Amino acid sequence: MRFASVLLFFAFFVCCKSPYFTPVHADADKMTGRWQSYSFDQLNTGFHLYVNKCAGCHTLYKPALYTEEQWTKVIPEMAQRALITEEEQQDILRYILSMREPSVLQTKPTKL
Ligand code: HEC
Repeated sequence: MRFASVLLFFAFFVCCKSPYFTPVHADADKMTGRWQSYSFDQLNTGFHLYVNKCAGCHTLYKPALYTEEQWTKVIPEMAQRALITEEEQQDILRYILSMREPSVLQTKPTKL
């Protein structure tokens, strides 16, 4: 029994290690001043692309970890590795920049 709970603990740790930063509508709304007609759908597309295309080689980096300047530089570099289009790059970059200061503070990783 004890062994099982230890196992469960590690299974949880392994499966849920990647931090996912789930956007909410307010995250898209606050960016419309910058990118006209930016929508929650677009933000959500960027989020899914980030999770699906950028976690293959390393865990997902927290958006707040790098400055806008650093992200703007690193994403085109990583795009070559992730084999994504320019449009997908832009969706990911916008998602990241929207989530550097998320509207809802997530203390736990959320699952998709
Ligand atoms: C094919 C493997 C691969 C994929 C896919 C990939 N990366 Fe990376 N990434 C790496 C490697 C290897 C490094 C570390 C070495 C380096 O910085 O060149 C890295 C480093 C990084 C860093 C840290 C850079 C730094 O200077 O500290 C960031 C941020 C990053 N990746 C973001 C992304 C994003 C965003 C995507 C999706 C568009 C992505 N990665 C997809 C292989 C990958």
